[in-house]
Amino acid sequence: MSQITYVNGKYLPHNKAFLHVEDRSTQFSDGVYEVIAVISGNLVDPQMHYRRLIRSLTELEMNLPMSVNVLHLNIKEVIRRNQLNSGLCYLQISRGSAPRNHVIPNLIKETVVITARHSEPNGGKGAKQGVSIITTEDIRWKRPDIKSVSLLPNVLAKNQAAQRGAFEAWLVESGEEEIIIEGSSSNTWIVSQSGQVITHPEGVKMLSGVTRNRIIDLARSNGIEVLEKPFTVTQAKTASEAFMTSTSSFVVPVIDIDGHKIGNGKCGPVTIAIQKLYNDFAQRSCGEV
Ligand code: PDD
Repeated sequence: MSQITYVNGKYLPHNKAFLHVEDRSTQFSDGVYEVIAVISGNLVDPQMHYRRLIRSLTELEMNLPMSVNVLHLNIKEVIRRNQLNSGLCYLQISRGSAPRNHVIPNLIKETVVITARHSEPNGGKGAKQGVSIITTEDIRWKRPDIKSVSLLPNVLAKNQAAQRGAFEAWLVESGEEEIIIEGSSSNTWIVSQSGQVITHPEGVKMLSGVTRNRIIDLARSNGIEVLEKPFTVTQAKTASEAFMTSTSSFVVPVIDIDGHKIGNGKCGPVTIAIQKLYNDFAQRSCGEV
């Protein structure tokens, strides 16, 4: 866990870092967040995360209470003070604290929190061996493209997965078609029997994953065709490969969906190729080849 946490301009011992009880993030989920991977003490793809952060804030009519450059310096300082070599930086910006009222107060100042914690790079054991996932209904609000801290449906879905011994829950749009939108904290991909790499198209229904978007670029520039189109639970279960992507786990092969073995039940060659492309990119972009 973080030893030193940033709260509104102060670097505090983690056990002394607090939000006000009337912070709107706790009462209304009125805030946004980002998670950025750290390798060799450097941030992976920070500009893409800042761009998405600004978009999330803008969609909620909030402001970043400092310039992106100052934010970047603060995050780097949290990394330095925590002596973080490999792990994750968590950044949360809430609307701020004010007497509880659904109506957004005019004069309110955003609350900024930055924490850092150690974790294994490149997704750890699951990324090497592959993981099982479950599917469950997507019961989130209609704007999960905004990276808001309103994550209760995601928490319940992931917890359901954990209770069933699975690593992740893939969220399925209600309706006859059973379209897989994304995971509770990841984007979702399949490789069809004809070798097409498929992931759900961007839009309001899902988060525009930084890892996802980087992988689309890397794959295409390395001759791997990627189709951004919806796919169903049945297509996923009968795919030759499946995988998920996120900042915290990079590329993780999925070898079992709801108890159905995917392909031959082992990490597939296309997934492994994409995983290598992304891991190499992350190392390279952090200055360590
Ligand atoms: N989760 N979809 C959802 C719902 C997510 O929460 C995440 C990220 C992603 C993948 O996005 P990215 O590649 O930008 O991390 C997709 C983060 C890691 C989290 O909540 O911890």
